[in-house]
Amino acid sequence: MSGFVLDRAIEALETDGVVAIPTETVYGLAALITSPLGIKKIFSVKKRPFFDPLIVHVSSKKMAETLTTDWNPLVDFLAEHFWPGPLTFVLPKSTAVDSMITSGLETVGVRMPKHTLALSLIDRLGIPLAAPSANRFGKTSPTTAAHVKAEFPDENLVILDGGESQVGLESTVLHISRLENHYRLSILRKGAVTKTDLEKALSYQKFQVEFIEALSKKESPGHMKHHYMPEIPLVMVHGSALSEAEILQLAQEKMKDLPTEIDGVSILKPTQFRKSQELLLPVESAQAARVLYSELRKLSTQKKVDLLYFRLQAHHESEPWQAIMDRLTKAASLIIN
Ligand code: TXA
Ligand code: MG
Repeated sequence: MSGFVLDRAIEALETDGVVAIPTETVYGLAALITSPLGIKKIFSVKKRPFFDPLIVHVSSKKMAETLTTDWNPLVDFLAEHFWPGPLTFVLPKSTAVDSMITSGLETVGVRMPKHTLALSLIDRLGIPLAAPSANRFGKTSPTTAAHVKAEFPDENLVILDGGESQVGLESTVLHISRLENHYRLSILRKGAVTKTDLEKALSYQKFQVEFIEALSKKESPGHMKHHYMPEIPLVMVHGSALSEAEILQLAQEKMKDLPTEIDGVSILKPTQFRKSQELLLPVESAQAARVLYSELRKLSTQKKVDLLYFRLQAHHESEPWQAIMDRLTKAASLIIN
């Protein structure tokens, strides 16, 4: 990557613009955290509702510390262990973070991406970047520069091409709160870093830690029932008993009853039920995660296919598959039993 492209990105960001940046998870649509205009642009370009907070990206632990009022020993340990990487911490925000970034919440999501281009960009700017995934609201996240271009064909966007995202799924979002005698952790969004990974890392440490399941909607906005939607409807099917023709017929019957929209995300329904296509993924979870979004995009831009389907199998129930299953379930219009 030439320094020239980086220079253009810096110039765009420093003049209140937005820039698409590569990360190891998915591509992000970034603005300086010090640019309210840039932040507003992120929401308007994505057509993202203001209730859904953005993640702030840093290039060092020191930079991360400026964003929170509680950079505590546990966060420091986890950052040392998992950063740069696909783990976002939700911590009490400092005054350095505009409330537009956090959707008015008192907490901020912070992560250090594992991508040299993103890290050198943030390093040169000396200011963190707020960035959600670089897709239109509710749609499939991009894992290549070409995907970003396809999401926003009419925007004159500076896109930093950093190749294919190696993880392929959005980061694990971990809410951390410090109570009197212990820390309370809650995974708000599943990702490549699993609960077992966190427990393993913490197992020989002195921290008193409690994991709790879900937080309230207020502490964890942005968790819509539907999200990551491809352009052609996707249905999930249990096992391999149903034939393609049966899947098409069942989908046609059941889709009649679906609403057209849930939480602002339109639910896709085919107008015809002529032909379907199976979404096939590698058996190994890390490989499956890496190709999931590009496969969904590839299949859903095909002509003459009305419906995509994915067959749920036993190996999809293991922990490393949970993040993929979360995305697939939200991308699907329907689950057929
Ligand atoms: O891997 C990723 O996390 C990618 C790359 C670009 O870093 N980013 C990403 O951003 O997936 P986005 O905006 O698509 O998803 C961020 C999600 C929000 O929808 C919200 O659920 C959660 O992170 N989040 C961010 N800040 C939060 C906060 N203060 N409290 C609770 N949840 C928060
Ligand atoms: Mg997103």
